[in-house]
Amino acid sequence: MRQLFAPGADAILRLALFVVAAGSVMMLVVAGAVANSDYVSMVGIAPAQPVPFSHKHHSGELGLDCRYCHATVETEATAGMPPTYTCMTCHSQIWTGAPMLAPVRDSLASHTPLAWTRVNRLPDYVYFNHAIHVSKGIGCSSCHGDMTAMQMTMRAQSFHMDFCLQCHRNPAANVRPIGEVLNMTWQAPPDQMARGRALVAQYHIRGAAVLTDCSTCHR
Ligand code: HEC
Ligand code: HEC
Ligand code: HEC
Ligand code: HEC
Ligand code: HEC
Repeated sequence: MRQLFAPGADAILRLALFVVAAGSVMMLVVAGAVANSDYVSMVGIAPAQPVPFSHKHHSGELGLDCRYCHATVETEATAGMPPTYTCMTCHSQIWTGAPMLAPVRDSLASHTPLAWTRVNRLPDYVYFNHAIHVSKGIGCSSCHGDMTAMQMTMRAQSFHMDFCLQCHRNPAANVRPIGEVLNMTWQAPPDQMARGRALVAQYHIRGAAVLTDCSTCHR
């Protein structure tokens, strides 16, 4: 019978199989890197909004308190979004005819809330609560960055599990005095670890074993 394969075929076949196998491993590595990259997690990318609302302008320059618009951030799981009449307390007097604000006027007239595009969003299987973080000395900027410098809102963090766990393993490195929670430019002082440990005790923050338990965030 004629030889089906040339003598070197076995080696070529092995090489081909190796290339295919190595290629699929590479694909997985690349896919994993893309899935974890800032591009997919939208860090630093501002999505389009119905109205080009600027935190830099309203909070950074006009000095409006975050709680003026996100009224439930200290008391509830969700921070809350401002109803249209909150905008109209000012915009019924200033920039009243601006075309940019037409969606705000339409929203008020039609009693339909503005449809803001969500920027930060966790999957449904993760439980999150603003009130507990804010009342235990974790500042907005630890998770949202300096909002008073943002023209259009973008994510400052990916909110992958590891981001949450890094702090839950060692809250002392991040806890600040409650009075600094709304300070967007707060920086940890050089003796943060000593101060942080004192605040962890003072605020009765539980240990890493509880805070990293799966059921804390997946309930
Ligand atoms: C005058 C009202 C107003 C004030 C004051 C205000 N915000 Fe907002 N905020 C909004 C509106 C409207 C949106 C939705 C549009 C957007 O994402 O920019 C928003 C969105 C956000 C979001 C993103 C929400 C999402 O979709 O994930 C964060 C985070 C946020 N604000 C934090 C802050 C912080 C921190 C402060 C204080 C420094 C603050 N805001 C002050 C009105 C306000
Ligand atoms: C405390 C008063 C106040 C409130 C409340 C307020 N604004 Fe403004 N807003 C201003 C002022 C002042 C300007 C600047 C006008 C100028 O540049 O001359 C402005 C400007 C704007 C602009 C033009 C773009 C910019 O930032 O310069 C938009 C869009 C806007 N506001 C949307 C909103 C929306 C949406 C809300 C409600 C979520 C809101 N504003 C609430 C005072 C306010
Ligand atoms: C420990 C991290 C963390 C801190 C601290 C934090 N946030 Fe958030 N914030 C998030 C996450 C995560 C989401 C998305 C929540 C979701 O999808 O369920 C979010 C969502 C929001 C939203 C969108 C509406 C909502 O409630 O889902 C606003 C507005 C907001 N945050 C404002 C604030 C303000 C203002 C502060 C400070 C007073 C603050 N956040 C502190 C992590 C944080
Ligand atoms: C910078 C620090 C920090 C970050 C980042 C952080 N947390 Fe926390 N978290 C805390 C502290 C401090 C507490 C309060 C613990 C206590 O009181 O025992 C807490 C408590 C919680 C609780 C407990 C609520 C309860 O009722 O028991 C949940 C759930 C939680 N965090 C979820 C998250 C999730 C999800 C993320 C990521 C999106 C996150 N946290 C990011 C510091 C942080
Ligand atoms: C401090 C909060 C927190 C704790 C504690 C926590 N997770 Fe998560 N987990 C998250 C967040 C946030 C995500 C969403 C990640 C994303 O969207 O990228 C997540 C996602 C996941 C996923 C989906 C796949 C992935 O990695 O994104 C699995 C599986 C998971 N967690 C398992 C666990 C297990 C098992 C434990 C206990 C050992 C645990 N988690 C503890 C916050 C937490």
